[in-house]
Amino acid sequence: MPTKAKNKDTKSKNEDLPLTEEALMEEDEEPQVTIEDLPGVGPATAEKLREAGFDELLALAVMAPADLAEQAELGEAVSSKIIQAAKKMANIGGFVSGEALLSRRREVQKLTAKVQSIDDLLGGGFETQSLVEVYGEFGSGKTQIGHQLAVNCTMPLEEGGFDGDIFYIDTEDTFRPERITQMARGHGLDPDQVLGRIHVARAYNSAHQMLLVDEIKKMSKNFNVKLIIVDSLPSHFRAEFIGRGMLATRQQKLNRHLKDLKQLADVNNALVLVTNQVHSKPDAMWGDPTKPIGGHILAHASTFRLYLRKAKGGRRIARLVDSPNLPDGECVYQVTEEGLRD
Ligand code: GTP
Ligand code: MG
Repeated sequence: MPTKAKNKDTKSKNEDLPLTEEALMEEDEEPQVTIEDLPGVGPATAEKLREAGFDELLALAVMAPADLAEQAELGEAVSSKIIQAAKKMANIGGFVSGEALLSRRREVQKLTAKVQSIDDLLGGGFETQSLVEVYGEFGSGKTQIGHQLAVNCTMPLEEGGFDGDIFYIDTEDTFRPERITQMARGHGLDPDQVLGRIHVARAYNSAHQMLLVDEIKKMSKNFNVKLIIVDSLPSHFRAEFIGRGMLATRQQKLNRHLKDLKQLADVNNALVLVTNQVHSKPDAMWGDPTKPIGGHILAHASTFRLYLRKAKGGRRIARLVDSPNLPDGECVYQVTEEGLRD
Protein backbone atom coordinates (compact mmCIF):
# COMPACT_ATOMS: atom_id res chain seq x y z
CA MET A 1 0.00 0.00 0.00
CA PRO A 2 2.21 2.77 -1.23
CA THR A 3 -0.28 5.48 -0.31
CA LYS A 4 0.42 5.26 3.35
CA ALA A 5 4.15 4.93 2.95
CA LYS A 6 4.18 8.08 0.86
CA ASN A 7 2.23 10.08 3.34
CA LYS A 8 4.51 8.90 6.04
CA ASP A 9 7.61 9.92 4.19
CA THR A 10 6.19 13.32 3.45
CA LYS A 11 5.69 13.62 7.16
CA SER A 12 9.40 13.08 7.69
CA LYS A 13 9.82 16.28 5.68
CA ASN A 14 12.06 14.74 3.11
CA GLU A 15 11.88 16.65 -0.11
CA ASP A 16 14.34 14.49 -2.03
CA LEU A 17 12.50 11.21 -1.82
CA PRO A 18 11.10 9.87 -5.05
CA LEU A 19 7.62 10.85 -3.92
CA THR A 20 6.60 12.98 -6.81
CA GLU A 21 3.90 15.59 -6.52
CA GLU A 22 2.06 13.92 -9.39
CA ALA A 23 2.05 10.62 -7.56
CA LEU A 24 0.40 12.22 -4.56
CA MET A 25 -2.09 14.15 -6.70
CA GLU A 26 -2.94 11.09 -8.72
CA GLU A 27 -4.03 9.36 -5.56
CA ASP A 28 -6.11 12.31 -4.42
CA GLU A 29 -8.23 11.97 -7.52
CA GLU A 30 -9.45 8.53 -6.49
CA PRO A 31 -12.27 8.70 -3.96
CA GLN A 32 -11.00 7.04 -0.80
CA VAL A 33 -13.09 4.11 0.37
CA THR A 34 -12.78 3.67 4.13
CA ILE A 35 -13.77 0.87 6.47
CA GLU A 36 -16.92 2.85 7.39
CA ASP A 37 -18.11 2.32 3.82
CA LEU A 38 -18.28 -1.45 4.31
CA PRO A 39 -21.87 -2.72 4.44
CA GLY A 40 -22.83 -3.67 7.98
CA VAL A 41 -20.01 -1.73 9.63
CA GLY A 42 -21.49 0.87 11.94
CA PRO A 43 -19.54 3.39 14.00
CA ALA A 44 -19.05 0.99 16.92
CA THR A 45 -17.65 -1.80 14.76
CA ALA A 46 -15.49 0.67 12.86
CA GLU A 47 -14.12 1.88 16.16
CA LYS A 48 -13.31 -1.69 17.22
CA LEU A 49 -11.62 -2.35 13.92
CA ARG A 50 -9.56 0.82 14.08
CA GLU A 51 -8.60 0.13 17.65
CA ALA A 52 -7.31 -3.27 16.64
CA GLY A 53 -5.22 -1.56 13.98
CA PHE A 54 -7.39 -2.23 10.94
CA ASP A 55 -7.86 1.11 9.31
CA GLU A 56 -7.45 0.02 5.72
CA LEU A 57 -9.58 -2.25 3.57
CA LEU A 58 -6.65 -4.25 2.37
CA ALA A 59 -5.58 -5.05 5.92
CA LEU A 60 -9.06 -6.52 6.47
CA ALA A 61 -9.25 -8.27 3.13
CA VAL A 62 -6.21 -10.41 3.86
CA MET A 63 -7.38 -11.62 7.29
CA ALA A 64 -8.75 -15.01 8.27
CA PRO A 65 -12.19 -14.71 9.99
CA ALA A 66 -11.08 -16.42 13.21
CA ASP A 67 -8.05 -14.14 13.52
CA LEU A 68 -10.04 -10.98 12.86
CA ALA A 69 -12.69 -12.10 15.35
CA GLU A 70 -10.04 -12.55 18.00
CA GLN A 71 -8.08 -9.39 17.32
CA ALA A 72 -11.02 -7.02 16.91
CA GLU A 73 -13.22 -8.76 19.48
CA LEU A 74 -16.02 -9.40 17.01
CA GLY A 75 -18.14 -12.45 16.28
CA GLU A 76 -16.73 -14.82 13.72
CA ALA A 77 -19.76 -14.53 11.41
CA VAL A 78 -19.53 -10.73 11.46
CA SER A 79 -15.78 -10.94 10.82
CA SER A 80 -16.35 -13.22 7.90
CA LYS A 81 -18.86 -10.78 6.34
CA ILE A 82 -16.53 -7.84 6.86
CA ILE A 83 -13.67 -9.69 5.21
CA GLN A 84 -15.81 -10.67 2.22
CA ALA A 85 -16.97 -7.08 1.77
CA ALA A 86 -13.44 -5.74 2.16
CA LYS A 87 -12.23 -8.19 -0.46
CA LYS A 88 -14.79 -6.83 -2.91
CA MET A 89 -14.15 -3.18 -2.20
CA ALA A 90 -10.43 -3.13 -1.59
CA ASN A 91 -8.27 -2.41 -4.54
CA ILE A 92 -6.49 -5.72 -4.24
CA GLY A 93 -5.27 -5.68 -7.81
CA GLY A 94 -3.47 -9.01 -7.77
CA PHE A 95 -1.65 -8.08 -10.96
CA VAL A 96 0.15 -4.83 -11.45
CA SER A 97 2.15 -3.53 -14.36
CA GLY A 98 5.90 -3.72 -14.40
CA GLU A 99 5.85 0.06 -14.47
CA ALA A 100 3.88 0.21 -11.23
CA LEU A 101 6.26 -2.27 -9.66
CA LEU A 102 9.17 -0.14 -10.71
CA SER A 103 7.67 2.93 -9.12
CA ARG A 104 7.09 0.92 -5.95
CA ARG A 105 10.72 -0.13 -6.05
CA ARG A 106 11.70 3.53 -6.49
CA GLU A 107 10.24 4.22 -3.08
CA VAL A 108 12.73 1.83 -1.55
CA GLN A 109 15.20 3.57 0.74
CA LYS A 110 18.49 2.21 1.98
CA LEU A 111 19.74 2.43 5.53
CA THR A 112 23.48 2.78 5.90
CA ALA A 113 25.45 0.64 8.32
CA LYS A 114 28.05 3.44 8.26
CA VAL A 115 30.44 0.64 7.39
CA GLN A 116 31.47 0.85 3.75
CA SER A 117 32.10 -2.87 3.33
CA ILE A 118 28.64 -3.79 4.64
CA ASP A 119 26.87 -1.14 2.55
CA ASP A 120 28.75 -2.32 -0.54
CA LEU A 121 27.81 -5.94 0.13
CA LEU A 122 24.14 -4.90 0.28
CA GLY A 123 24.28 -2.71 -2.81
CA GLY A 124 24.09 0.51 -0.79
CA GLY A 125 22.51 -0.46 2.52
CA PHE A 126 19.59 -2.23 4.19
CA GLU A 127 16.48 -1.83 2.02
CA THR A 128 13.00 -0.85 3.12
CA GLN A 129 10.08 -3.11 2.14
CA SER A 130 12.33 -6.01 3.02
CA LEU A 131 12.83 -8.45 5.83
CA VAL A 132 16.44 -9.09 6.71
CA GLU A 133 17.43 -12.12 8.69
CA VAL A 134 20.73 -11.87 10.56
CA TYR A 135 21.90 -15.24 11.80
CA GLY A 136 25.01 -16.56 13.46
CA GLU A 137 26.36 -18.20 16.57
CA PHE A 138 26.23 -16.79 20.09
CA GLY A 139 28.35 -13.67 20.29
CA SER A 140 28.70 -13.34 16.53
CA GLY A 141 27.34 -9.79 16.72
CA LYS A 142 23.65 -10.06 15.75
CA THR A 143 22.50 -7.82 18.59
CA GLN A 144 25.28 -5.34 17.81
CA ILE A 145 23.94 -4.96 14.27
CA GLY A 146 20.46 -4.35 15.66
CA HIS A 147 21.73 -1.65 18.01
CA GLN A 148 23.81 0.01 15.30
CA LEU A 149 20.99 0.12 12.76
CA ALA A 150 18.65 1.52 15.41
CA VAL A 151 21.09 4.38 15.94
CA ASN A 152 21.65 4.94 12.21
CA CYS A 153 17.91 4.93 11.51
CA THR A 154 17.58 8.22 13.40
CA MET A 155 20.14 9.94 11.17
CA PRO A 156 18.93 12.38 8.52
CA LEU A 157 18.32 11.08 5.01
CA GLU A 158 21.31 12.95 3.60
CA GLU A 159 23.50 10.87 5.88
CA GLY A 160 21.99 7.56 4.91
CA GLY A 161 19.52 7.37 7.78
CA PHE A 162 15.70 7.32 7.67
CA ASP A 163 15.02 10.13 10.14
CA GLY A 164 12.66 7.54 11.57
CA ASP A 165 11.38 5.76 14.64
CA ILE A 166 12.56 2.32 15.67
CA PHE A 167 10.45 -0.40 17.24
CA TYR A 168 12.60 -2.95 19.01
CA ILE A 169 11.05 -6.24 20.14
CA ASP A 170 13.47 -7.69 22.65
CA THR A 171 12.87 -11.35 23.46
CA GLU A 172 16.11 -12.11 25.28
CA ASP A 173 16.48 -9.00 27.40
CA THR A 174 19.65 -7.97 25.59
CA PHE A 175 18.71 -4.43 24.55
CA ARG A 176 21.17 -2.06 26.21
CA PRO A 177 20.50 1.70 26.21
CA GLU A 178 24.10 2.22 27.34
CA ARG A 179 25.28 0.59 24.15
CA ILE A 180 23.02 2.88 22.13
CA THR A 181 24.58 5.84 23.94
CA GLN A 182 28.09 4.69 23.01
CA MET A 183 27.14 4.12 19.38
CA ALA A 184 25.28 7.44 19.11
CA ARG A 185 28.31 9.31 20.44
CA GLY A 186 30.45 7.33 18.01
CA HIS A 187 28.60 9.11 15.19
CA GLY A 188 28.36 12.48 16.89
CA LEU A 189 24.64 12.11 17.68
CA ASP A 190 22.85 13.22 20.83
CA PRO A 191 22.27 9.94 22.75
CA ASP A 192 19.10 11.18 24.42
CA GLN A 193 17.54 12.14 21.12
CA VAL A 194 18.46 8.79 19.64
CA LEU A 195 17.09 6.87 22.64
CA GLY A 196 13.91 8.93 22.45
CA ARG A 197 13.18 7.47 19.02
CA ILE A 198 13.84 3.83 19.93
CA HIS A 199 10.73 2.20 21.35
CA VAL A 200 11.56 -1.02 23.13
CA ALA A 201 9.23 -3.77 24.27
CA ARG A 202 10.30 -6.85 26.11
CA ALA A 203 8.32 -9.82 24.74
CA TYR A 204 7.55 -12.30 27.49
CA ASN A 205 6.37 -15.17 25.33
CA SER A 206 5.54 -15.91 21.71
CA ALA A 207 1.91 -14.78 21.99
CA HIS A 208 3.03 -11.48 23.46
CA GLN A 209 5.66 -11.17 20.75
CA MET A 210 2.99 -11.54 18.07
CA LEU A 211 0.69 -9.05 19.79
CA LEU A 212 3.48 -6.50 19.82
CA VAL A 213 3.37 -6.45 16.03
CA ASP A 214 -0.29 -5.41 16.23
CA GLU A 215 0.77 -2.75 18.69
CA ILE A 216 3.29 -1.37 16.20
CA LYS A 217 0.55 -1.38 13.56
CA LYS A 218 -1.53 0.86 15.81
CA MET A 219 1.38 3.13 16.71
CA SER A 220 2.28 3.68 13.07
CA LYS A 221 -0.41 6.37 12.99
CA ASN A 222 1.62 8.55 15.31
CA PHE A 223 5.17 7.52 14.53
CA ASN A 224 7.31 7.40 11.45
CA VAL A 225 7.91 3.65 11.70
CA LYS A 226 11.01 2.93 9.62
CA LEU A 227 12.79 0.09 11.38
CA ILE A 228 11.40 -2.89 13.25
CA ILE A 229 13.83 -5.19 15.01
CA VAL A 230 13.00 -8.56 16.51
CA ASP A 231 15.95 -9.87 18.54
CA SER A 232 15.72 -12.80 18.53
CA LEU A 233 12.86 -14.00 16.39
CA PRO A 234 12.49 -17.72 17.21
CA SER A 235 13.68 -18.11 20.81
CA HIS A 236 10.24 -18.04 22.48
CA PHE A 237 8.70 -20.22 19.81
CA ARG A 238 11.49 -22.70 20.18
CA ALA A 239 11.16 -22.80 23.97
CA GLU A 240 7.38 -23.12 23.93
CA PHE A 241 6.72 -25.55 21.11
CA ILE A 242 9.00 -28.42 21.91
CA GLY A 243 9.31 -31.75 20.17
CA ARG A 244 8.28 -33.13 16.82
CA GLY A 245 4.58 -33.10 17.66
CA MET A 246 4.69 -29.30 18.00
CA LEU A 247 6.82 -28.61 14.98
CA ALA A 248 3.93 -27.87 12.62
CA THR A 249 2.23 -25.55 15.10
CA ARG A 250 5.44 -23.70 15.75
CA GLN A 251 6.17 -23.19 12.08
CA GLN A 252 2.62 -22.05 11.44
CA LYS A 253 2.85 -19.45 14.17
CA LEU A 254 6.28 -18.30 13.05
CA ASN A 255 4.99 -18.06 9.51
CA ARG A 256 2.06 -15.92 10.58
CA HIS A 257 4.37 -13.71 12.67
CA LEU A 258 6.71 -13.21 9.73
CA LYS A 259 3.84 -12.34 7.43
CA ASP A 260 2.64 -9.70 9.90
CA LEU A 261 6.15 -8.30 10.07
CA LYS A 262 6.52 -8.23 6.30
CA GLN A 263 3.21 -6.41 6.06
CA LEU A 264 4.54 -3.74 8.45
CA ALA A 265 7.58 -3.36 6.19
CA ASP A 266 5.41 -2.94 3.09
CA VAL A 267 2.79 -0.64 4.57
CA ASN A 268 5.29 1.70 6.21
CA ASN A 269 8.05 1.49 3.61
CA ALA A 270 10.14 0.25 6.51
CA LEU A 271 12.90 -2.24 7.13
CA VAL A 272 12.38 -5.32 9.31
CA LEU A 273 15.43 -6.91 10.85
CA VAL A 274 15.14 -10.23 12.67
CA THR A 275 17.90 -12.21 14.33
CA ASN A 276 18.17 -15.96 14.48
CA GLN A 277 20.67 -18.20 16.23
CA VAL A 278 22.59 -21.11 14.83
CA HIS A 279 23.90 -23.77 17.14
CA SER A 280 27.63 -24.20 17.45
CA LYS A 281 27.09 -27.73 18.74
CA PRO A 282 25.43 -30.33 16.55
CA ASP A 283 21.96 -30.98 17.86
CA ALA A 284 20.02 -34.08 17.03
CA MET A 285 16.76 -32.26 16.55
CA TRP A 286 18.10 -29.52 14.36
CA GLY A 287 20.48 -31.53 12.22
CA ASP A 288 22.95 -29.35 10.33
CA PRO A 289 24.62 -27.10 12.92
CA THR A 290 25.13 -24.28 10.45
CA LYS A 291 21.46 -24.05 9.54
CA PRO A 292 19.51 -21.31 11.28
CA ILE A 293 17.04 -22.50 13.87
CA GLY A 294 13.85 -21.18 12.27
CA GLY A 295 14.41 -23.50 9.33
CA HIS A 296 12.88 -23.18 5.90
CA ILE A 297 9.98 -20.88 6.63
CA LEU A 298 12.30 -18.18 7.82
CA ALA A 299 14.56 -18.59 4.83
CA HIS A 300 11.66 -18.07 2.46
CA ALA A 301 10.16 -15.15 4.31
CA SER A 302 13.34 -13.11 4.43
CA THR A 303 14.44 -10.94 1.55
CA PHE A 304 18.05 -10.82 2.62
CA ARG A 305 19.96 -13.14 4.87
CA LEU A 306 23.22 -12.21 6.53
CA TYR A 307 25.32 -14.92 8.10
CA LEU A 308 27.72 -13.55 10.74
CA ARG A 309 30.81 -15.16 12.13
CA LYS A 310 33.82 -14.20 14.18
CA ALA A 311 37.27 -14.03 12.62
CA LYS A 312 40.79 -13.50 13.92
CA GLY A 313 41.74 -10.25 15.65
CA GLY A 314 38.23 -9.32 16.78
CA ARG A 315 37.06 -9.01 13.20
CA ARG A 316 33.65 -10.12 11.97
CA ILE A 317 32.63 -11.57 8.66
CA ALA A 318 29.17 -11.05 7.21
CA ARG A 319 28.08 -13.22 4.31
CA LEU A 320 25.14 -12.34 2.12
CA VAL A 321 23.10 -15.46 1.34
CA ASP A 322 20.38 -16.01 -1.28
CA SER A 323 19.69 -12.39 -2.17
CA PRO A 324 17.09 -11.96 -4.93
CA ASN A 325 19.03 -9.29 -6.80
CA LEU A 326 22.56 -9.12 -5.41
CA PRO A 327 25.50 -11.47 -5.78
CA ASP A 328 26.38 -13.59 -2.75
CA GLY A 329 29.51 -12.26 -1.11
CA GLU A 330 31.31 -11.50 2.12
CA CYS A 331 32.62 -8.47 3.94
CA VAL A 332 34.81 -7.85 6.94
CA TYR A 333 34.22 -5.32 9.70
CA GLN A 334 34.87 -4.73 13.37
CA VAL A 335 32.82 -4.24 16.51
CA THR A 336 34.40 -1.46 18.54
CA GLU A 337 33.45 0.57 21.58
CA GLU A 338 31.89 3.17 19.24
CA GLY A 339 30.04 0.57 17.23
CA LEU A 340 30.54 -1.17 13.88
CA ARG A 341 33.51 0.07 11.86
CA ASP A 342 35.38 -0.86 8.68
P1 GTP B 1 23.60 -14.05 21.06
O1 GTP B 1 22.48 -13.08 21.22
O2 GTP B 1 24.13 -14.55 22.34
O3 GTP B 1 23.29 -15.15 20.11
O4 GTP B 1 24.84 -13.25 20.42
P2 GTP B 1 24.83 -12.04 19.39
O5 GTP B 1 25.14 -12.60 18.05
O6 GTP B 1 23.67 -11.20 19.55
O7 GTP B 1 26.13 -11.25 19.84
P3 GTP B 1 26.23 -9.75 20.29
O8 GTP B 1 25.73 -8.88 19.22
O9 GTP B 1 25.70 -9.60 21.63
O10 GTP B 1 27.81 -9.56 20.27
C1 GTP B 1 28.56 -9.63 21.44
C2 GTP B 1 29.96 -9.30 21.05
O11 GTP B 1 30.03 -7.96 20.55
C3 GTP B 1 30.89 -9.35 22.21
O12 GTP B 1 31.43 -10.63 22.37
C4 GTP B 1 31.93 -8.35 21.82
O13 GTP B 1 32.90 -8.99 21.02
C5 GTP B 1 31.21 -7.36 20.96
N1 GTP B 1 30.91 -6.15 21.76
C6 GTP B 1 29.77 -5.89 22.41
N2 GTP B 1 29.87 -4.70 23.05
C7 GTP B 1 31.09 -4.23 22.77
C8 GTP B 1 31.81 -3.04 23.15
O14 GTP B 1 31.32 -2.17 23.86
N3 GTP B 1 33.07 -2.91 22.66
C9 GTP B 1 33.63 -3.83 21.86
N4 GTP B 1 34.86 -3.63 21.43
N5 GTP B 1 33.00 -4.95 21.51
C10 GTP B 1 31.75 -5.15 21.95
MG1 MG C 1 21.99 -11.26 20.76
